[in-house]
Amino acid sequence: SIQACLFDLDGVIVDTARFHYIAWRQVANDLGFDLSHSQNELLKGISRMESLDIILSIGGVELSEDEKVRRATEKNTHYLELCQQMTPDDTLPGVRVFLDDLKAKSIKIGLGSASKNARVILERIDMLKYFETIVDGNRITKGKPDPQVFLMGADDLHIAPEHCVVFEDAVAGIQSAKGAGMFAVGIGHKSILTEADIVVAGFDEFRVEDLLVAFGE
Ligand code: G6P
Ligand code: MG
Repeated sequence: SIQACLFDLDGVIVDTARFHYIAWRQVANDLGFDLSHSQNELLKGISRMESLDIILSIGGVELSEDEKVRRATEKNTHYLELCQQMTPDDTLPGVRVFLDDLKAKSIKIGLGSASKNARVILERIDMLKYFETIVDGNRITKGKPDPQVFLMGADDLHIAPEHCVVFEDAVAGIQSAKGAGMFAVGIGHKSILTEADIVVAGFDEFRVEDLLVAFGE
């Protein structure tokens, strides 16, 4: 049975992916190259410093450690500036209803995100109150696709992995969930999230009842 649901943040609860993309693209442009949409896909779910390394390898640019920290900090300042436009209305469609339904069914709710900004973002969209645990980029030592982030969340909630469902929009996040032995719901496209147990476009056409059926309850 499903006893806990663990949610990724960016691209699942809220559409911050476009802001991450704008801010990273600026870093690439400053270094003299561009970052395409499909290249940006590789960065979803990946920590800030690892994302920068991927971008630098795309551009064939090498930087000193100090310079890397400076670029990453610049990116984050820009990203947080962009995030200031966000309001509770930027919560992705159907998410609130879905979480309210889970609460009504006494299914526990946790967050599993690589972002160090997770709490700030959740506060901004007024969603902090839903989460019984938050595992974010400040707590994990191994990023997605390592299963640590979701195993920590399950442990916090005292629920065994086989009773957990993970919601993820990133390839690395689905791999993390499957590595943790959890049921993985992909948010996005089947062609990209090939390892997910099921893939849905979003929460506006997917109800908790549909999840229970998919899980086999
Ligand atoms: C999420 C996003 C990534 C981002 C990472 C770190 O996983 O999908 O695009 O790089 O968090 O976010 P942060 O807010 O700490 O830079
Ligand atoms: Mg994500």
